[in-house]
Amino acid sequence: MFHEDYAFFSSTSRYMALHFKAFADQVMADYLADDDPLVVEMGSNDGIMLQNFAAAGIRHLGIEPSQNVAQVAIDKGVKTITEFFGADLARRIVAESGPADAFLAASVMCHIPYIHSIVEGIRLLLRPDGVVMFEDPHLGEVAEKTSYDQIYDEQTFLFSVASISYLFEQYGLEVIDIEPQTTHGGSMRYVIAHQGARPVSPKVAAPKEKERSLGLHLPATHDRFRQNCENSRDRLMALLKDLKAQGKRVVGYGATSKSTTITNYCGITPDLVEFISDTTPIKQGKYSPGAHIPVRPYEEFVRNYPDYALLFAWNHAHEIMEKEKAFRDRGGKWIVYVPEVAVLD
Ligand code: SAH
Ligand code: TMP
Repeated sequence: MFHEDYAFFSSTSRYMALHFKAFADQVMADYLADDDPLVVEMGSNDGIMLQNFAAAGIRHLGIEPSQNVAQVAIDKGVKTITEFFGADLARRIVAESGPADAFLAASVMCHIPYIHSIVEGIRLLLRPDGVVMFEDPHLGEVAEKTSYDQIYDEQTFLFSVASISYLFEQYGLEVIDIEPQTTHGGSMRYVIAHQGARPVSPKVAAPKEKERSLGLHLPATHDRFRQNCENSRDRLMALLKDLKAQGKRVVGYGATSKSTTITNYCGITPDLVEFISDTTPIKQGKYSPGAHIPVRPYEEFVRNYPDYALLFAWNHAHEIMEKEKAFRDRGGKWIVYVPEVAVLD
């Protein structure tokens, strides 16, 4: 999945660039020692986060196995190696560059099946007083919003505070802070350090308790989640079939990885959704996996607005709604399915 033709370029979202600027600013303000610190990021993609450290003249290293996106970062002056992170690579980095003051990651920890080698690598790489900060979609948010499309090919894990604490404790590391994020429909940012090296924030307790009150540790909760997924699917399909019967045009907005779960699980076919609009050049002219809905350039969406746009990139809703005022002004309507299937008037 992660190779020279990786299809996701982080910097397609302007909002995410701001998000990672704020993330980097926080790391610089709160966690970096004065003596030539080293910041390592796993899954650094096109340099969306590390470009901020590069601009500040801070020693940094991106670890990004997907060659095409890594090259964009390198061209921007972000130091990047095109490899997969793990314990062996951590040893090499320590030998060549010394230990890391901060180890960062966003939307990648949850992608990696060999997670134990990752955590062992972090333990080896991290300075005694260093911090790990990473964010990933949170199981509680997915269960609450029925956002089952967070389960897609790249996603191996859906973490909770409980599961992350359990995993890192096995390597002598502990969660010292937690910051819920609105990005990607509800992520959690974990701040982790060597056990006893830094004070544990009182903020860690509340999300852990919330997870228990949501019943994330109980099978019945996940049974209910399954039922909610089935209901969501049935409602979306009924809506799309009804619109087709009325002769309305529906176009998908954003050929996200997540949309692949929706189209295949629901059984959405090209007669229901004419094409999917996406701004990423390497996705255009291709077909969505499995459902074979054509992916077309954004310009085609604008040239001939459909009656309805099915918002597959719902995690970027705010940015997209702002940008697409003209679509709505001309009578276009949005179809959303998180947290409920609905038509926005
Ligand atoms: N951090 C960026 C990119 C997330 S996409 C953002 O939040 O926008 C996940 C990225 O992690 C991809 O660029 C992929 O190539 C990379 N990746 C996947 N497995 C990896 C691994 N084992 N080590 C390092 N990077 C990895
Ligand atoms: P993501 O949900 O994994 O972040 O992917 C978002 C996809 O949506 C990506 O392929 C780019 C596309 N996209 C657009 O086509 N238009 C937009 O305005 C935004 C924000 C994303």
